[in-house]
Amino acid sequence: GFNLSGRDFLEMDDYTSEEIEYLIDLAIEIKAKQKNGEVYQPLKGKTIGLIFEKSSTRTRVSFEVGTYQLGGHALFLSKNDIQLGRGETIADTAGVMSRYLDGIMIRTFGHDKVVDLAQYATVPVINGLSDLAHPCQVLADFQTIYEHKGVLKGLKLAYIGDGNNMAHSLMIGGAKLGVHVSVASPEGYEPDPQVVASAQEIAKATGAIIEVVRDPQDAVKDAGVIYTDVWASMGFEEEQKAREVAFASYQVNEDLAKLAKPDYLFMHCLPAHRGEEVSKGVIDGKHSIIFDQAENRLHAQKALMAALIGN
Ligand code: CP
Ligand code: NVA
Repeated sequence: GFNLSGRDFLEMDDYTSEEIEYLIDLAIEIKAKQKNGEVYQPLKGKTIGLIFEKSSTRTRVSFEVGTYQLGGHALFLSKNDIQLGRGETIADTAGVMSRYLDGIMIRTFGHDKVVDLAQYATVPVINGLSDLAHPCQVLADFQTIYEHKGVLKGLKLAYIGDGNNMAHSLMIGGAKLGVHVSVASPEGYEPDPQVVASAQEIAKATGAIIEVVRDPQDAVKDAGVIYTDVWASMGFEEEQKAREVAFASYQVNEDLAKLAKPDYLFMHCLPAHRGEEVSKGVIDGKHSIIFDQAENRLHAQKALMAALIGN
């Protein structure tokens, strides 16, 4: 096995390919335990704090439920209810919380805040989404793909749309796992070139292919997975109108999906906007595995918490 005890989880590149594969295997094992009604409580007596500076449905509920199922206790800490929202520093927040808690999850805007929290906290910090990365989602996503396809290496995943946190973590995670990730974004909305370069560097060791293209058709051609996300992420709401124009030809719909493999999977981290980044027919159709993905947030994060914080 792997000893990940005490580690942070800020982005997919914090972990080796083998460690990520281990976490996916552990998630599948923990999922089976839950389905079999087996009690598994490595977090007995432990408490985890969940700091939210942005909205959440899946992340909040899956962390709260997951912690409970592992025998621990989770505290929902909304920005507006803790002193962080009134200007208490990240360093002081981290120092204080480390004296009460066994782990901290944070969802925030700038990734530097996640990094600072991890630096000042003496307990593991988990990134529950920043503007740069969404590694918990991607861990669950690769678990989901693996469950459906039985393989990750060599698989082509097309990501269509905004070069955002999801695009970044899919590229880094895909690079680690030997996946062919092809990202198609409109001009001005490409993924961060530094993240692309770093994913391409990782890919050299794993045989993954990481590419950024302009035309969604080039990305989707022969893909086994089509992934998309909202055009305006949290924090970018005021750009909605401009983005609707820029992304108009980036909708994942039946026409585009025709270019993928006949047994392609459609994925979306949710929440989704039907009629914008994806047509109703595709997201609600037979290729869509959005609820498997959402469910696996629970199992993947239980694996993560068990490995980082568990007894
Ligand atoms: N996918 C995801 O992270 O969803 P929430 O914003 O609802 O947590
Ligand atoms: N890119 C989206 C993902 C939401 C889970 C956002 O950051 O709002």
